[in-house]
Amino acid sequence: MPHATVPGYQHIQVTELGPTFGAEVSGIDFSKPVEPDVFKEILDATIKYAVLVFRNAGLDDARHVAFSRLFGELDDVKPYLTLGRKNRFPFDELFDVSNQEDDGSIVQIGSKREQTGRGNSLFHCDSAFNPRRAGYSLLRAHELPPPGNGGNTDFADTRTAFDELPADLKSELLENDYIGANSLWHSRRKACPESEFLASIDPEAYPFGRHRIVQRHEPSGRMNLYIAHHLHHLEYPDGRRVEEPKSTELIERLLAHATQDKYLLSVEWRQNGDVVCWDNTAVMHRAGGGTFQGRFKRDMRRTTVHDGSSTAWGLNERTTKRMGLP
Ligand code: OGA
Ligand code: MN
Repeated sequence: MPHATVPGYQHIQVTELGPTFGAEVSGIDFSKPVEPDVFKEILDATIKYAVLVFRNAGLDDARHVAFSRLFGELDDVKPYLTLGRKNRFPFDELFDVSNQEDDGSIVQIGSKREQTGRGNSLFHCDSAFNPRRAGYSLLRAHELPPPGNGGNTDFADTRTAFDELPADLKSELLENDYIGANSLWHSRRKACPESEFLASIDPEAYPFGRHRIVQRHEPSGRMNLYIAHHLHHLEYPDGRRVEEPKSTELIERLLAHATQDKYLLSVEWRQNGDVVCWDNTAVMHRAGGGTFQGRFKRDMRRTTVHDGSSTAWGLNERTTKRMGLP
């Protein structure tokens, strides 16, 4: 059933996608730079809905990057390119999220790259493992697999999940003010326990991205649960590690709570040119997977906006280091 247009916007049309978050936005002419008064409404909608879907926006690489810049300072892909990987695109701000190998062939199921990339199928926030976390991500479908082969992107509303925490859990979190230690290697290992390569890697040998798991989402003033499958363990504010099995049990309980059906929204990619923008400091997301994997190209391109809030760096040193890609 089509949803009604939300009143109050002069330049864009906004329709809600779910009861607590997510909206589809139309009426924007993406063939030219987005005007400040139009962008102001887009930003207002992003702050409120956390996930915005722009159908058939028709952005090319350059306009994708230019539009993303309106949201803040962009992360660049160069520090991530390890093991001889190169960026396919002429823009350092464009991340390759496709299932294509460097030679253009489709990533095969069971290959090292596919196994390592499987971490994306677990709910996460982009760059939680880096010294500076990501704010917004803008993902664009350049070439989608044929319809009916899956490949949705799913979202979890972690602001509403915080609001609705069981009372005992909410007061425990507020009293202890836990710090989450996030690791990209940890989520990769969790997503693919059968990989010998991943099993041989010790996440503790790499720096963690430390961020408080309960934070106020500054743009909206709402509280947020900043959790992800990147969470390797929890710490107390004085730096002591929360003992096991308590730490892991708490992480799993919070992830299970925040990913109940009532907090989820699955976004279907319908046509090339669709763009989805989300706020990593208000939602988690995951790649839904599907029968396209190993068979059809899914060429997705992403820009990542550094978080501009006062807690962007969490408890981390302000370095330019990033975790490498496989
Ligand atoms: C990402 C991501 C999910 C997808 O680009 O950060 O997690 O559906 N993508 O491709
Ligand atoms: Mn992601």
